[in-house]
Amino acid sequence: MSEVVLQSIVKRYEHMVAVDHVSLSIGQGELVALLGPSGCGKTTTLRMVGGFVPVTEGRIMVGGRDVTHLPPHKRNMGFGFQNYALFPHMSVAQNVAFGLEMRKVSKADIAARVKTALDKVRLGHLSERLPKQLSGGQQQRVALARALVIEPDVLLLDEPLSNLDAQLRQEMKLEIRQIQRSLGITTIFVTHDQDEALSVSDRVVVMRAGRIEQEGSPDEVFATPKSHFVAEFMGVTNLLPGRPDTGGFRLATGEVVPVAGPPPGKEDVALGVRPERIVIAVGEGGQGHLPGRVELATYRGLVIDYQVRAASGLTLTARCPSPAAGGPSPLNAGQPVHVSWQPEAAVLVPL
Ligand SMILES: Nc1ncnc2c1ncn2[C@@H]1O[C@H](COP(=O)(O)OP(=O)(O)OP(=O)(O)O)[C@@H](O)[C@H]1O
Ligand SMILES: [Mg+2]
Repeated sequence: MSEVVLQSIVKRYEHMVAVDHVSLSIGQGELVALLGPSGCGKTTTLRMVGGFVPVTEGRIMVGGRDVTHLPPHKRNMGFGFQNYALFPHMSVAQNVAFGLEMRKVSKADIAARVKTALDKVRLGHLSERLPKQLSGGQQQRVALARALVIEPDVLLLDEPLSNLDAQLRQEMKLEIRQIQRSLGITTIFVTHDQDEALSVSDRVVVMRAGRIEQEGSPDEVFATPKSHFVAEFMGVTNLLPGRPDTGGFRLATGEVVPVAGPPPGKEDVALGVRPERIVIAVGEGGQGHLPGRVELATYRGLVIDYQVRAASGLTLTARCPSPAAGGPSPLNAGQPVHVSWQPEAAVLVPL
């Protein structure tokens, strides 16, 4: 049974529609990531589910109950929001204990549960500090502990890792996933980070301009983006306009390049190739599909991104292993190369 159901919800502000008929069913214990660029309506959607923003149209059901007009404290949801809004005059431990006190949990239980929750977010040693004595990332983790400690039916997380450094982000991501799974909490996780959405969720919902653009399992959305927008968001940064042709795909610039599989039945498609799938061969006259020159090389640690301009004027990005990852010596700007890819590395994406 679906635990949380959004039935065509709309949020309209005076002159703009922030959320435009979003329908979504989230199963018991499922973790759904709402993914999309800044301003696409993720926070507004989440706040409507939480009861912090009134719904203009549509209904929100939780466990079969219509909660559309219930205040937040009657929804048994845990919130970890973008502006974490800790109580400034309360210590870390008191902040985390607050929800339990409201629920009349015994003092001994509160102490034990607060300690467990703070240990989970690695803040056990700072329990007596005030929020203003914490870094942004630490405050964010207090907010997370506060959301988890009440063992909510539904957990709503809005960019819960945005202020953390890369390593802590990775650790907390796994921690959230593990806690969420072990407690079976139905969770909506808002992020604009593709990688985070793919690695943490059971299902990814990509939003664009207030609407759902595509939803599916992480591998589905990653491997078969249904639009130019989703493809780009999923890292298919080489999107080449043209049309399917005998023997491959005819680029708008005239070259015919390989593509596997039938066209999706629409005329207006682009050929998408991930930069990781592009192979660069050095020199003139290689077996590559497109001759060109390296325009720019960007060192990124284990990989190097090469911007290659083909003879026809087309620009492509190739991501190649750097010497640190066992790759060949770096290429220099100006170097003549050929770029190619395996036919199955190319996907056709409707425009
Ligand atoms: N109170 C408000 N009044 C008017 N417009 C608003 C209000 N709150 C949000 N909006 C607008 O609604 C749209 C969606 O905002 P929202 O905060 O949901 O985006 P988001 O996807 O969470 O973006 P971000 O990734 O930047 O947090 C934006 O265009 C925003 O400017
Ligand atoms: Mg937001």
